[in-house]
Amino acid sequence: KPRPEWTAAEEFLTRVVVHPDPALEQAISSAAEAGMPAIEVAPNAGKLLKLLVQLSGARRVLEIGTLAGFSTIWIGRGLPEDGTVVTCEFLPKHAEVAWANIDFAGLGEKVEIRLGPALETLAALAEEGREPFDFIFIDADKENNSRYLDWAVRLGRPGATVVLDNTVWEGAILDPDLDPVNAPGIVDALKLLGEHPRLDATVIQTVGSKGWDGFALARIS
Ligand code: DHB
Ligand code: MG
Repeated sequence: KPRPEWTAAEEFLTRVVVHPDPALEQAISSAAEAGMPAIEVAPNAGKLLKLLVQLSGARRVLEIGTLAGFSTIWIGRGLPEDGTVVTCEFLPKHAEVAWANIDFAGLGEKVEIRLGPALETLAALAEEGREPFDFIFIDADKENNSRYLDWAVRLGRPGATVVLDNTVWEGAILDPDLDPVNAPGIVDALKLLGEHPRLDATVIQTVGSKGWDGFALARIS
């Protein structure tokens, strides 16, 4: 279990390098008011997403799992003027809260929320024959992680970046019986990241305000 000083260090690091953004604060408070779970990425991880978007020069981003739009706003902050995000959300209430937050962040023109089961949205996006995505962030129901990764490869361009959240799950990847609902999907996705002929990946474990977890970073070839 994370030691208190690891969380304290993260709070210190965040205070020193991650600047406040009223829209991100609003995303957190609106989610709490709406009774939504506080399972958004930590601020330092959100800023990592923004920097990865900028460093990779991504213009078209796909996000699977909107929640209240916290990571969506971070991603949006990293986009160029003509950049766009398509973000998939299952629950109408979450999408409604997220939309208000995204609009308040000034990103209403850049972000499209697609409501419904993400697997259906992803199939529809493929049907629509859109331009491929440059950056895909997966942070939704863990059971479908491998299916989301497969879609990421299909919908991303060669050279695209994939980030997958929640790769350690308090250590349950070592003993999936600890969480039979979520852990198997996480382990399957990790194996797929290691084996997929078009994915080259690494995984970083993290400790701090979000407990003991991690994220995967992959490149589509
Ligand atoms: C949960 C989901 C997440 O994406 C996360 O980062 C942390 C927790 C959850 O469903 O409990
Ligand atoms: Mg997550």
